[in-house]
Amino acid sequence: MSESITVSGTTRKEKYESLIPQIQALVHGESDFIANISNIVGAIKCGMNFFWVGIYFVKQNELVLGPFQGPVACTRIAFGKGVCGTTWKEKQTIIVEDVEKFPNHIACSSESKSEIVIPCFKQGEIFAVLDIDSDKLNDFDETDKQYLEKIALLIETL
Ligand code: SME
Repeated sequence: MSESITVSGTTRKEKYESLIPQIQALVHGESDFIANISNIVGAIKCGMNFFWVGIYFVKQNELVLGPFQGPVACTRIAFGKGVCGTTWKEKQTIIVEDVEKFPNHIACSSESKSEIVIPCFKQGEIFAVLDIDSDKLNDFDETDKQYLEKIALLIETL
């Protein structure tokens, strides 16, 4: 297994296309779920240089913080609350251009300016959400959605 992630390219699309095979290689042959999730989160954080990358797991009636990279974050999020809880409720990726304009946003860090949250499904039910924060406004678009949903599909197979 490679010891570091080296992302090439200048556009976001090129960077994801360089990152995703490295993520596949990273988890190949390793069966431990938490180890794999931790490395995927680390690879996205280091490869794409986002402000915060982490995963929340559905546990009973709330989301509970899992492996993440970045500043400490809120531990539990209720169904329908915040961007993460709304993603869980609506069962689809949510892109927030400006977190201050998302009525339900939960601010874990004042440095977070925009956010994307991607649901991960097992047997038709959401079991986790992948949450990524940027310290830049309007930092996520359909390209991020497309490639991060591919990474979510990979997480679903772990
Ligand atoms: N902003 C998220 C909370 C989690 S942090 O961004 C790490 C939300 O509104 O659900």
